[in-house]
Amino acid sequence: MVTIFWLAISYLLGAMPFGLLISRTCCGIDPRNEGSGNIGATNVGRLCGTKYGALTLALDMLKGFVPVALAASFSDSYFFLTLVATAAICGHMFSVFLHGKGGKGVATWVGAFVAISTSGTILCGLGFLAALYFYNFVSLASLVMVALMPVVLLFQGLYGAIPLALVLMALIFWKHSENIQRLMAGEEHPWKMK
Ligand code: G3P
Repeated sequence: MVTIFWLAISYLLGAMPFGLLISRTCCGIDPRNEGSGNIGATNVGRLCGTKYGALTLALDMLKGFVPVALAASFSDSYFFLTLVATAAICGHMFSVFLHGKGGKGVATWVGAFVAISTSGTILCGLGFLAALYFYNFVSLASLVMVALMPVVLLFQGLYGAIPLALVLMALIFWKHSENIQRLMAGEEHPWKMK
């Protein structure tokens, strides 16, 4: 019962479309209709400027961090913690407030995995920064980061977290299908903030 309650809370928190709310109220833009069409921090930053992108990033990360960190206070099961993370990230990707649509889940993924393995997320974040430095695409850097996590968890011995880290990796890759097509066609939007 506690498990279902906690997963429902995590899903609903993850479903809060902060990027959409911020871009609509602060710069009068619906990010679903402009830029990459995503409601995430990268597109909000692209359309409304760095400070609104950063605000979206912080709030989307908190949606992942808060439910997983609280779950960690009453459970030491890494499988359960990644289940809570999956609920929050699926909330962001398939939001009940957006008729089942949503973002790509990367910022919420980062927040959730900071609560699961801070050091592992820092390592994956270094992969993100390296890919961003060399290629200048947030999408590619994000894919590198999430793909590194199952390997990092393996080396850390956090075996219970690996199955859902793989599921989340697959979901995030699927949500980036259009980015991957643009990357392969040489047409991806480079990282550029106002
Ligand atoms: O987190 C989303 C990022 O990986 C790509 O964003 O707007 O370039 O599709 P965007």
